[in-house]
Amino acid sequence: MYFDTHAHLDDAAFDEDREEVMRHLQEADVESVLDPGCDLESSRKAAKLAETYEFVCFAAGFHPEELKSLSEESLEAVLSLTGHPKCCAIGEIGLDYYWDDSHKEEQKKLFHAQLSYAKERDIPVIVHDREAHGDCLAIVKQYPGLRGVFHCYSGSPEMAQELLRMGWYLGFDGPVTYKNAKKALEVLRICPDDRIVVETDSPYLPPVPMRGKRNDPSNLRYICAKIAEIKESTIETIAKCTAENGKILFGL
Ligand code: NI
Repeated sequence: MYFDTHAHLDDAAFDEDREEVMRHLQEADVESVLDPGCDLESSRKAAKLAETYEFVCFAAGFHPEELKSLSEESLEAVLSLTGHPKCCAIGEIGLDYYWDDSHKEEQKKLFHAQLSYAKERDIPVIVHDREAHGDCLAIVKQYPGLRGVFHCYSGSPEMAQELLRMGWYLGFDGPVTYKNAKKALEVLRICPDDRIVVETDSPYLPPVPMRGKRNDPSNLRYICAKIAEIKESTIETIAKCTAENGKILFGL
């Protein structure tokens, strides 16, 4: 019943026991997983996984932290993967000023290139916004009608309202279970149920009580449990509703 709309199953952290992890997911009621790419290599790996496993779909994209492998050819090759029958989005793309704020203009240029490609072809996008809220919001505003999700949303409630008004979805991850999660919980409270998607960002960001371990999509239930608590609902209801939202957003 769970749909993890953001898990890097192609990551090397799963190389040793990927098959076992995949089997376990199905036993853990994980119905679908979307694996977003970060560059050409990982987008291709994600496509391969989607070909191998029925319940996996993928997104192709160039992450702002991957500028080093960016070239006209590699970007073109990533975008051409959107023609793959199991590719359901462009992502993850966006701006990251946390790790590196010395290439802001290159990051913005790359973000624009992928957003306009998505807009022209009506493909949903998965946005990574870390410490770049103002610029991300200003840029997506230039593409009205574009559909997508702000993955692992970390902006203010005010920015969330603006995005929701424009039709965007918000992604919630392990950090909603952390002690210092005040802002994310405020955003959850104002986010209508039909605009929430849940993500693990595996192998990163394990939720409580799995912190310190490798994250995988079976931990989605801890995130759904926290959301259920905030929304005064049940895990089952939240899992069902967020899976439905994911299917609508990504056209599955
Ligand atoms: Ni990610």
